[in-house]
Amino acid sequence: MSTRMVLSIAFVLFVVLGMLVYVLFEGQRADYNILTSTEEYTHVGAQLFAANCAQCHGPEGEGAIGPALNRSEWHAGDKNYDQNAVFNFIRNVVKRGQHSPQPGITMPAWSKDFGGPLNDEEIERIIVFITQDDWHQPFHYTATPNFVANIPPNSVQKKQYPSTTAEVLAVKNPAKYGEANPTAEQKKALSDDAAADEKANGPAYQEAQQNTEKLRVLLGNADPAKPGEKLNGLKQLFQVKGCINCHAIGSVGTTLGPALTEVGSRRDAQWLNDWIKNPSLVKPENRGPNVMPWFKGNNRTEFWPMQPTIMPTIPMTDQERQRIVDYLANLKITDVALPQAGPATGN
Ligand code: HEC
Ligand code: HEC
Repeated sequence: MSTRMVLSIAFVLFVVLGMLVYVLFEGQRADYNILTSTEEYTHVGAQLFAANCAQCHGPEGEGAIGPALNRSEWHAGDKNYDQNAVFNFIRNVVKRGQHSPQPGITMPAWSKDFGGPLNDEEIERIIVFITQDDWHQPFHYTATPNFVANIPPNSVQKKQYPSTTAEVLAVKNPAKYGEANPTAEQKKALSDDAAADEKANGPAYQEAQQNTEKLRVLLGNADPAKPGEKLNGLKQLFQVKGCINCHAIGSVGTTLGPALTEVGSRRDAQWLNDWIKNPSLVKPENRGPNVMPWFKGNNRTEFWPMQPTIMPTIPMTDQERQRIVDYLANLKITDVALPQAGPATGN
């Protein structure tokens, strides 16, 4: 046999084998593509959900000031799941928004076509995510997952905005300065380092100043001429009690829980008092008049069950709670036209 012939036979064999392999694995490859794209959609959708939806619908879709979205009928795989109907329904509401009968609350429009921030592809990804029953995901993308995971309920919260140079250093180098139980040497090291950093206008000093300024905006009552002044007064409680680790007030805080900037428009003092005293004792149907009722036939009967809230009971005195409640109850929308109660703008 000539070398040429050997090479030709080898070539033919190679091509035939290649085709065989292709035919055998083509099916699997196609499945794999579908799988990765659903996974990719779910994954990106979860992040979009965490950034845009979790503060009103709960980080696990359990419902907060908007209704629960983790409904069995919306899960692909449920026996009542109707993909077209579910996608159309969610797409309509999400794109155009929806007025709630409750004053001061509305589901914003999300589509760029209706003045919102999201494009059609992003909205599709969120919908795929919602239908995948993977509700632990967005929790990990919300602003403070580690913080929340680390605190047992009923514990006093950590400060999110260290506002002295020493506090900034201590947060940045917990091992060096001994965390909660520093030795005498560690205490001295911290105060020496803080003094040096302050003198040099170092990074910790600057960060402390910035945090103080953020807090000043939040607290509203501190003197801007004295940014280093220890903040005192009622609204300081929002920091030391950890509220702004989960909530935003004005431009300060995070979005794990609903923004409290206008909470007085939707909750009265009695409700706020009961809630802050012990959130887990508030009945699901009192957590949001926006918990959407189930339709059974044409009758609205029961409410969608809500999962226990993740807001902890935060220890505080009755006086402290009273001050927080007075403040929150007066955070109202005053100069904004409230949305009128009305039917959904979707079809
Ligand atoms: C500012 C709070 C807020 C944000 C943020 C928000 N929603 Fe809503 N959403 C609501 C409220 C309130 C309702 C109920 C409106 C009503 O009473 O009809 C609602 C309703 C819905 C509904 C319809 C539920 C039903 O049964 O009628 C869907 C679906 C929904 N939201 C999805 C989303 C998605 C997805 C996002 C993020 C892109 C999002 N929402 C962000 C407040 C919000
Ligand atoms: C670990 C996170 C976390 C912390 C800390 C926290 N909250 Fe909340 N809070 C939430 C979540 C989540 C909700 C959503 C309510 C639900 O589950 O029904 C909520 C709801 C609320 C509501 C109701 C808002 C509404 O319109 O329904 C108020 C008021 C509130 N929190 C006040 C506070 C105050 C005051 C503090 C500090 C003392 C605080 N929260 C600390 C997570 C937190």
